[in-house]
Amino acid sequence: MRVPLINVSEIPSEGTKTVEFFGREVLVYMAGENPRAIMNACLHIGGPLERQGCDFVCQWHQAKFDGESGMRVEGPAPKDARLMYIPTRVLDGVLTYVYGE
Ligand code: FES
Repeated sequence: MRVPLINVSEIPSEGTKTVEFFGREVLVYMAGENPRAIMNACLHIGGPLERQGCDFVCQWHQAKFDGESGMRVEGPAPKDARLMYIPTRVLDGVLTYVYGE
């Protein structure tokens, strides 16, 4: 299954862009040279995330996650929690969700 998310050229070098993915919000961003895509849901109780510098911070109770590894840095999310990355590949300049290949 392949689902195009966004042209890589439209992803800002800082911050995020929000795209719709099966009725849910996905945040796309650049981690260095690599485009990444995460579900916009905190691993505590699902609050929305905001990129602050290289990290992501939950807007509800301020859990912080590393923007490179996705691992929780601090806050009320479980210690081993990791942001929900969705599997992607860049195909013809488009960041694309790829599953089952
Ligand atoms: S929902 Fe994110 S820290 Fe509580």
